[in-house]
Amino acid sequence: MAPKTLGRWVATAAAGTTVAIAVAACGSKTVTTTVTVGAVTNGGATPVSHQVAAGAHDFNQFACAQCHGMNGKGGVSPAVPALRGAASHLTVEQLTTIINHGLGESANPKAPYMPVWGQVISARQVSDLVAYIRAGLPAVPGATPVPIITAQGPAVEGSLLYQRYGCVNCHGPNGLGGVPNPQSPDKSIPALSGADFFKEFNTDQKILDVVRSGSVIGRAPIVSMPHWGGIIPDAQLQAIIAYIKTLKTS
Ligand code: HEC
Ligand code: HEC
Repeated sequence: MAPKTLGRWVATAAAGTTVAIAVAACGSKTVTTTVTVGAVTNGGATPVSHQVAAGAHDFNQFACAQCHGMNGKGGVSPAVPALRGAASHLTVEQLTTIINHGLGESANPKAPYMPVWGQVISARQVSDLVAYIRAGLPAVPGATPVPIITAQGPAVEGSLLYQRYGCVNCHGPNGLGGVPNPQSPDKSIPALSGADFFKEFNTDQKILDVVRSGSVIGRAPIVSMPHWGGIIPDAQLQAIIAYIKTLKTS
């Protein structure tokens, strides 16, 4: 028996809907397959669009979750608001401006402030983050913080924390630096490696102090060093320092 030739067909369905497609093969046998159109399913929960899924991954990559809590639920520090209600009191334009330009920094930060992201995150990533916040910050499979291993020593733990807290986005892989910060005096975000860095930051205490306090070098669009005191526990700060000290010293 010759297989039936299937004609070209087009299915139209809204993103997120699940459709059953029955494919008649060899005349007698019917194969049914289920596909979800243009969307990502999250373990039985409501499927989200590709844009919202991308925003959820960005929310972890750029450590928004480390300050605002998983899925923006808050509870990390009294200085950082939950984001669950942000979509109801902030427009797309306001959310975009806050992410690009930051919020609440002072010349000498005593508490966490909202960093300036406009130089570091693309316009596309910012609009994905806004879509994610407006969708109510749902759980999305795989959009989770980098897991931390503590049993393999502080340098390994620190290298994972360097990713989890998003240091890598600003200071580069291996602390190489070079991320453009055109309006700043140095024109780029500094390296955390090399002779100049280790000459200035020649004790653990000096590294600890700057990571805890942050350092505001100017207003948006200048990117400053976030204040991590009250966000990163001391034991993790020590692990990050142990990792930084494994990087190139010359
Ligand atoms: C170092 C901690 C920190 C990180 C990382 C951080 N934020 Fe924030 N964010 C804050 C603080 C603190 C505020 C409150 C600022 C104020 O009101 O003075 C804030 C405020 C906001 C607001 C305004 C909320 C409101 O209700 O007014 C939005 C939206 C926001 N952040 C989104 C993000 C996104 C998206 C990311 C990741 C790209 C991010 N934040 C990363 C600390 C952080
Ligand atoms: C949003 C971008 C951004 C993020 C995220 C960030 N930094 Fe920074 N960091 C900066 C900038 C900009 C400076 C330069 C500040 C200055 O010159 O006063 C800096 C300075 C530093 C310095 C001092 C180096 C120097 O030469 O001044 C250290 C150490 C440091 N950061 C560590 C970290 C660690 C560890 C993390 C993650 C927990 C981190 N940073 C996350 C932007 C960032």
